[in-house]
Amino acid sequence: MYKLLIRPIFFLFDSEKIHNFTLFIISRFTFLYPVFKLIYSPSKNCSLQIANCTFKSPLGLAAGFDKNGVALRFWDAVGFSYVEVGTVTPLGQPGNPKPRIFRLKKEKALINRLGFNNKGADEIRKNILEAKPKLKNGLVVGVNIGKNKHTSIINAVTDYKICFEKLFDAADYFTVNISSPNTKSLRDLHNKEYLDNLLAEIQNLNLQLAAKHGVHPKNIFLKISPDLESEEVEEVYDFVCKHNFTGIIATNTTVSRSNLGQKSDEQGGLSGKPLKPIADKILHMLNELNLKNQNKKLILIGVGGVFSKQDFEDKTKNGASLVQVYTGFIYEGPGIIKKILR
Ligand code: FNR
Repeated sequence: MYKLLIRPIFFLFDSEKIHNFTLFIISRFTFLYPVFKLIYSPSKNCSLQIANCTFKSPLGLAAGFDKNGVALRFWDAVGFSYVEVGTVTPLGQPGNPKPRIFRLKKEKALINRLGFNNKGADEIRKNILEAKPKLKNGLVVGVNIGKNKHTSIINAVTDYKICFEKLFDAADYFTVNISSPNTKSLRDLHNKEYLDNLLAEIQNLNLQLAAKHGVHPKNIFLKISPDLESEEVEEVYDFVCKHNFTGIIATNTTVSRSNLGQKSDEQGGLSGKPLKPIADKILHMLNELNLKNQNKKLILIGVGGVFSKQDFEDKTKNGASLVQVYTGFIYEGPGIIKKILR
C-alpha cells in the first residue's frame, strides 16, 4: 500500500514538508498504534544483548529521521528495536536555508544539507523522558550528539559534553557524531589532534556520571564518515579502542558523487543506494581490524543503503551486530522492517 498509494502522493510534495507532516501525524494518532503493530511489526523477536542493553532485533532507525524524539511510541509500535534521536546540539538551532533535502528517485537516494536543525538538548530530553514509560515493546533509545553551528571546532568538546550530561538519564546509549558533512569543519574531528581528547573527555564524563548516579556507564558509539582513507579508518579505530567506546557506526552520508548515475549539483550528504558500496567498504575495513585485534572487539553498527534483506545481510556478513535504515524507510515504507527481519 505504501509504495502504490502513499509514496506517490508523498513524493508530489517537498521532502522536508512531507517529512514534518508525517512526523506530526504519526506522533498524534496514537490510537492507531495497535493497528500499525499488527501490520508492520515482526511477530518473532531475535533478541541480542549488547553490553548492558537488550535489543529485540538488530534493526533500528538511523539518526536524523526523528531528530527531536517526537514519535518514539510509533517506532516502538512498528517494530524497530531501537531508534537514534538527534543529532542533538546543546541549543536548539534552525539549520541551513531551505530547500535542503532532495530526492533522487531513479537512484533511490537522497541528498540533504539540513545542518543539525533540532530543538536542543533540554526539549529533546523532555520528549524522551515523557515517551519512555509508554514504550510497550522494549524500544532502545539512542541519542546522537553534536555541536552547535557557532561553536568553534576547538570548543566542540564542550558542546558534546553538555549534550552528554543533559541527556545522560534519557539515553540508553550515545552516539558521538563527528561525520555530518553539513556542519562546517565537523569532520576535522576525525583527526587525532581533536579525536584523542574528544573521546577521552566524553568517556571520563561517562564514568563520572555513572558513579554519581550509581548506574552502568553508557554504551558510546562513534559515527564516522564514509569518505575516509584506510589509514584514517585504522587511526579512528585505534582511538575508539583506546578510550573504551563500545563501537563504531559506519557510516554517515557521503560527499562523493562517484556512484551517482544521475547528475546533481546539490551540495550535501548523499544517502541511499549509491552510498551502500562505500559504506560497506568502510564496514569491511573495521571488521578486518576487529578480526586482527586480539585485545578488544568493537561492536559495529552498519548503516548506508539498506533497502532489502540482502542489503541487511551484506552488513551482518561484514561484521555488523546492529543495522540501521533511513533512506530505505523513505522509499520502502514501514513494510521494510518485516521484509528485512522475516
Ligand atoms: C541523515 N543522517 C544523519 N546522521 C546523523 O548522525 N545525524 C543527523 O542528524 C542526520 N540527519 C540526516 C538527515 C537526512 C535527511 C538523512 C537522509 C540522513 C544520516 C543517516 O543517519 C545515515 O547515516 C545515512 O543516511 C545513511 O543511511 P541510509 O539513509 O542510506 O539508510
